Amino acid sequence: MTQRKITIFDTTLRDGEQSPGCSMYLEEKISMARQLEKLGVDVIEAGFPFASEGDFASVAAVAEACRDTVVAGLCRTVPSDIERAAEALKNAASPRIHTFVATSDIHLEYKLKKTRAEVIEMTARAVSKAREYVDDVEFSAEDATRSDVDFLCQVFETAVECGATTLNVPDTVGYTLPGEFAELVKAVKERVVRDRDVKISVHCHNDLGLAVANSIAAIDAGASQVECTINGIGERAGNASLEELIMIMAVRGDRMPYRHNIDTTQLYPSSQLLSSIVSFGVQPNKAIVGRNAFAHEAGIHQHGVLSNPLCYEIMTPESVGVPRNSIVLGKHSGRHALIARYEDLGISLDGEEIAEVYDRFVALADRKKNVYDQDLLAIMPASRPSAIAA
Ligand code: KIV
Ligand code: ZN
Repeated sequence: MTQRKITIFDTTLRDGEQSPGCSMYLEEKISMARQLEKLGVDVIEAGFPFASEGDFASVAAVAEACRDTVVAGLCRTVPSDIERAAEALKNAASPRIHTFVATSDIHLEYKLKKTRAEVIEMTARAVSKAREYVDDVEFSAEDATRSDVDFLCQVFETAVECGATTLNVPDTVGYTLPGEFAELVKAVKERVVRDRDVKISVHCHNDLGLAVANSIAAIDAGASQVECTINGIGERAGNASLEELIMIMAVRGDRMPYRHNIDTTQLYPSSQLLSSIVSFGVQPNKAIVGRNAFAHEAGIHQHGVLSNPLCYEIMTPESVGVPRNSIVLGKHSGRHALIARYEDLGISLDGEEIAEVYDRFVALADRKKNVYDQDLLAIMPASRPSAIAA
């Protein structure tokens, strides 16, 4: 049996960037987009072009820079938003317009102040207009998981009839439960998609810590695109974490026999690069990419791992690009060890930058027993974006 392909839609540069402490400069967005391309994501959502001049410029720049991935721009169902997204994406090799409108009664009444009939009308106009510019149009029903399912299916049906190629089911407020979300995805598949060539996508927020579990349940129920971010950054408690989704599929291929294009050895470098750009790193116990994810402290565990790593490791650090830390960086470490560690993190420094960073490293190592990867990211030179390996 051929394995079902899962499209990985990365929204680090859009939903991720929308969260506090995560705004990025243009140069940083381009570096991150290049790294996402190297990682193998299928779609990069690069921003919300109508939102600001900066967002417009970054979507246009990512569209120019990334020729091997689809580049998406987000827009409301407003005509001027769609025109702006189309303009930002005009030089993309594979452009996607992603348009969204809320479908839950609470959003209709208090935020949009629109009737259900008006929302259907807005959907039809927006998707048809987007199709005048591109063949690849994604439609999202914001707050889908708190929407009336009959109305949700009616809106999705309209989107498909007007030319949407992907239907996205967002759990905008992180409210749903895995079993319930799977039922919703099945309903959309059976009632709307049927045998038509339309993808079902999911976009899960992590308010109850269920974003990854809900995305996995949705894939099993028939979704073939997941929207996610590096380190799980995103609005409020964040989005589903890309690295967790991918390693669940890799480690539990026995129960999740799906294909994707991700090079898992680029997961840690991507996580580290993002941490160096935004104003916070990941928590030490974060699955896959946290500092302690492969650290064994208890003697009994250390003994087990030394005898056979499989005793306590379900995946190797190398498989996700975490270097085996045979060299501990401390005050006796030299420039070579320091340069090598930066290289492991996907960061190449030139001569002047090494001198600058080395002085800071020595001062830090004098105060701290061990210097960790997070510390190295914190002492990067000001010229950092151009120092990142392409
Ligand atoms: O969370 C959400 O509903 C979104 C949509 C714009 C897809 O980010
Ligand atoms: Zn979102």
